[in-house]
Amino acid sequence: MAQIEVRDLVFTYDEEGSEKTIKGVSFDIEKGSYTTIIGHNGSGKSTIAKLLVGLLEKESGSIKIDGEEITPENVYEIRRKVAIVFQNPDNQFIGSTVRDDIAFGLENHQVDPSAMDPIINYFSSEVNMEDFLNHEPTKLSGGQKQRVAIAGVLAMAPEILILDEATAMLDPAGKHEIKELVLGLHKRHDMTIISITHDIEEVSISDKVIVMNDGDIRFNDEPDDILVLQKELIDIQLDVPFSVKLSLLLQQNGVTITDPIDEDKIVEELCQYNSKI
Ligand SMILES: Nc1ncnc2c1ncn2[C@@H]1O[C@H](COP(=O)(O)OP(=O)(O)OP(=O)(O)O)[C@@H](O)[C@H]1O
Ligand SMILES: [Mg+2]
Repeated sequence: MAQIEVRDLVFTYDEEGSEKTIKGVSFDIEKGSYTTIIGHNGSGKSTIAKLLVGLLEKESGSIKIDGEEITPENVYEIRRKVAIVFQNPDNQFIGSTVRDDIAFGLENHQVDPSAMDPIINYFSSEVNMEDFLNHEPTKLSGGQKQRVAIAGVLAMAPEILILDEATAMLDPAGKHEIKELVLGLHKRHDMTIISITHDIEEVSISDKVIVMNDGDIRFNDEPDDILVLQKELIDIQLDVPFSVKLSLLLQQNGVTITDPIDEDKIVEELCQYNSKI
């Protein structure tokens, strides 16, 4: 049994309208896997994320987490397992200081108060916010707020973490740090990750890629099988990685490229080709 099972999921914001926002999608997410979701603006990615944590209620179909259907009755219990970080960190804060805010989430998860300080210190320093623990969250910059929101969610050790373009507001170094932190938690604690992203690098390291198009799933496969679909991705307003474009051009010019995703390998094969001519 997959950890998340979604079947024929239909959702609409506009109950009178005939056009559904989510048009009957089905997919499985395995425990401990890393899934990226890509798709053009408005394709329904955030809507799916909100349905998975019970922030929106489906119109029909089913969403099961560990075999249990999400209902309005068990939604709080489900949210102990599934956490989400949104792109915009505003309105995600409750505490009057960064420390209180992270502590509040831990309290909700019934963490023993004596165990809280080490957890808060660890995660705040992992996101480089350890010097801001006594600051007011509302007075931080966008990127700083986002780091605090991420620390707060990670501190609660969810089994399933959904990141909805959660690092979009961070600078390149910040993005890299958070990516490494999430990857570490994923590997060490078998945390299931669902990441909505425009970052092709991240897509290429994920186990599975779900490609959304206009409220539907267009592809659901491994990254190597998705990222080479140059024409299909461009058709749905997505881009392919530079390495894939380069590989296709090289192949058209007689250079054999065995793995169009692996940049180091491309360089190696180009060098081999060069030494032959
Ligand atoms: N609160 C809302 N009320 C009404 N319609 C909404 C609401 N939120 C989103 N929509 C509509 O639902 C569709 C899917 O939106 P969604 O936010 O899921 O897209 P997305 O794939 O996350 O896009 P983006 O890449 O821009 O974040 C869009 O057409 C959008 O206009
Ligand atoms: Mg979105």
